Amino acid sequence: MSSNPTGSQAGLKGVVAGRTAICTVGEDGDNLHYRGYSIYDLTEKACFEEVAHLLIWGTLPNKQQLKNYQNKLKSLRGIPPALANCLEKMPGSAHPMDVLRTTCSLLGVLEPEVEGKRAEDIADRLLAIFPSALLYWYHYHQNGHKIEVNIAAETTAAHFLTLLHGPRIRQHSDLAEMMEKTLDISLILYAEHEFNASTFAARVCTGTKSDFYSAVTAAIGTLRGPLHGGANEAAMYLISQFNSVEEAQTRIKEMLEKKELIMGFGHRVYKKCDPRSDVIKAQSKILAEFSGDKTIYPVSEKIESMMWEEKKLFPNLDFYSASAYHFCGIPTFMFTPLFVMSRITGWAAHIIEQRKDNKLIRPTAEYIGPSARPLTDISVR
Ligand code: COA
Repeated sequence: MSSNPTGSQAGLKGVVAGRTAICTVGEDGDNLHYRGYSIYDLTEKACFEEVAHLLIWGTLPNKQQLKNYQNKLKSLRGIPPALANCLEKMPGSAHPMDVLRTTCSLLGVLEPEVEGKRAEDIADRLLAIFPSALLYWYHYHQNGHKIEVNIAAETTAAHFLTLLHGPRIRQHSDLAEMMEKTLDISLILYAEHEFNASTFAARVCTGTKSDFYSAVTAAIGTLRGPLHGGANEAAMYLISQFNSVEEAQTRIKEMLEKKELIMGFGHRVYKKCDPRSDVIKAQSKILAEFSGDKTIYPVSEKIESMMWEEKKLFPNLDFYSASAYHFCGIPTFMFTPLFVMSRITGWAAHIIEQRKDNKLIRPTAEYIGPSARPLTDISVR
C-alpha cells in the first residue's frame, strides 16, 4: 500500500490495498466481473444461487449441483429457538440492519466456528437464514405471528418474497413472477464488489485471524451507513418525497445549489457509468409499467437526467434498486438488509481468500497532532 494517504488519497482513494481473484470493478469499459464472468451474462443466464456458488465455492455449478445447492440452502433456513427468542425480545422499532447484525453475532455464539467447520458451510447457513431471521422478527412485531420460515420456495428471492407477502398472494401471478425475477437479478448485482468498505472491513477483521461471524458482523455494521449500503433506502426516501416530475426538478436543483448529496449517484471507482444501473433500471421500468406507476419512475428518470446535466454524475446500483424494490412491495427499511442477504456471498469469498494468504492489515497514519510536550502535574493543570 502507498504511504502518506493524504489529499487525493484521503479515504484510500485509488490505493491498491491488496490482491484478489474474485472480482474486477470498472475494467473492460466500466464493466463488473465475478471470477471473470460479466454481470451482464450472469444476470441474463444465471440465477442468484449459481452466483452464490461461484463466489462461495469458487465454481459455477452444473444443473445437478445447482439443485443440490438449492436443496442445501433450503435445509438451512431454520431458526434455532435461542435466536427466535432473541428476535422476539428485540424491539419492533429496531433498525433491521441491527437485527441482522445481532443475528449474525448471536449465531457466532450458538453455532460457533469450531475446528473442522468449513467457512463455506457457515456462509451457506448465513445466506439461508438471513431472510428467515429478518422476516420472523418483522412479522412477530407487526402482528404477533411466529411465521414458519421452512417453506418450499426454491430460490432465495422466492423465500424472501413469500415470507414477506405470504404464499397466497404470490401463487400463479405474473406480477409475483416479475418481482421474483427482479429480486433475483438484484441479488446477483449486489453480490460482490471487490474492496468496497464493508468487504474491506471483513478482510481487516479476518486479517487478525478472527472468526467468520465476527468478520461478517463487522461488514454488516459497515454496510449500514448511507454512503455505502444505506444509499438505496436514502434514495427511496428522496424519490418518494416528490409528487411530480416538476416538483422533483425544482427541489433537486435547490439541493444541488446547496451542495447536498443526492443519494444513489456517484461512485468511487466507476468513471462513466455503473454497469449495474441499467440492468436494474430495466427491471424497474417493467414493474412500473405493470403497476401503472405515473410518478416514481418518471421522477427517477428526471433526477437521473438532471444529475448528468448538472454534475455529470450517473446513477449507481442503489438508485434504481430503490424503485425496483418499491414496485416489489418491499418496505424501504428492508432495502439495505436485502443488500446483506446478497453480499454475504462476496464477503464470504473475501474472508476465504484473505485466510488463504493472510497478512495482518495494519496501515500507518500521518500524524498531524501536537509535537511532543511535557506532561504538567494534574495539580497545576
Ligand atoms: N450528489 C451530489 N454531489 C455528489 C454526489 C452525489 N451523490 N457524489 C459526489 N458528488 C460530488 C461531491 O460533492 C464532490 O464535489 P466537490 O468536488 O465539489 O466537493 C465530487 O462530486 C466528488 O465526490 P467525492 O465525495 O469526493 O467522491 P468519493 O469518491 O469520495 O465518493 C461516493 C463516492 C459514492 C461516496 C459519493 O459519490 C456519494 O456520497 N454518493 C452518494 C451516496 C451513494 O450513493 N452511495 C452508494 C455508493 S455505491
